[in-house]
Amino acid sequence: MSTEDLIKQAATDLVESNYSIALTGAGISTESNVPDFRGTKGIWTTDKEAEAKAYERYGLFLRDPKAYWEEMLGSRGTYGGFYEEIRKAEPNPGHYALAELEKMGILKCVITQNIDGLHRKAGSERVLEYHGSIDKLRCLSCGSRLAVEEVSLEELPPRCKCGAALKYDVVHFKESIPLDVMEGSEKEALKCDLVLICGTSAVVYPFANLPKMARYHSGKSGLTNVKIIEVNAEPTPLTHEGISDYLIQGKTGEVLPKIAEEGRRISHKAQD
Ligand code: APR
Repeated sequence: MSTEDLIKQAATDLVESNYSIALTGAGISTESNVPDFRGTKGIWTTDKEAEAKAYERYGLFLRDPKAYWEEMLGSRGTYGGFYEEIRKAEPNPGHYALAELEKMGILKCVITQNIDGLHRKAGSERVLEYHGSIDKLRCLSCGSRLAVEEVSLEELPPRCKCGAALKYDVVHFKESIPLDVMEGSEKEALKCDLVLICGTSAVVYPFANLPKMARYHSGKSGLTNVKIIEVNAEPTPLTHEGISDYLIQGKTGEVLPKIAEEGRRISHKAQD
């Protein structure tokens, strides 16, 4: 099938679904000038040292929270500058298309690996931030989350009311997914009858388990018509393993608005 035919198919599948969810990764934000990690110009693709440092970040926080903060707030050369860049980003047509599908009553939830907050900025209301957000800090001891603006960074590390050191509410490598987000995401994967997967290499777990849960659960619960659709610049393990029904290969910022537009056309036609 041509890309145009696949877009029409995806729009039809979405309109006919009862409970669609979207799973997104860094690829949906590259058209907002937020680099991805493993794409051709990804951060990990181009800077292996940065990737190695990222794998040590959670351990650094546990060992020496002050050193963690000094690294996080450092110049462009360290992660801190990256967060400042992300904060300047604006949503792109891919984010807006998912927000529109939610407003049309089709998309019930977006579960994103992205920490850039661009889905909410685009107007999506039900967003689960699977890897957290740069806009919040979190206490590992009592589980409190605070907006970055609420906490002074004069003295490092910033501390929670309970006395423990706070960290960014961003899930670093080797850190577990916060239970509330993990549980909420699994509930969505088990409840849905369509998964729209946008801009992820689908190689990081446990997030990459979510489409498999939807696929596997469908066999058990008789929801055998669960559709799993990928929109990505390149095939992923989900494509190769047949977890997804089809891949629409292209830019999310171009493909998703066409799916939303076709979905709107089909919905209006049905109402006539
Ligand atoms: N349109 C469609 N696909 C795109 C676009 C685009 N405009 N730009 C990039 N892509 C694709 C890339 O080809 C790649 O397959 O999006 C995918 C992005 O994959 P990753 O860079 O691995 O990002 P992601 O899957 O979100 O990474 C998961 O890894 O480093 C951790 O915590 C980090 O949340 C991140 C996790």
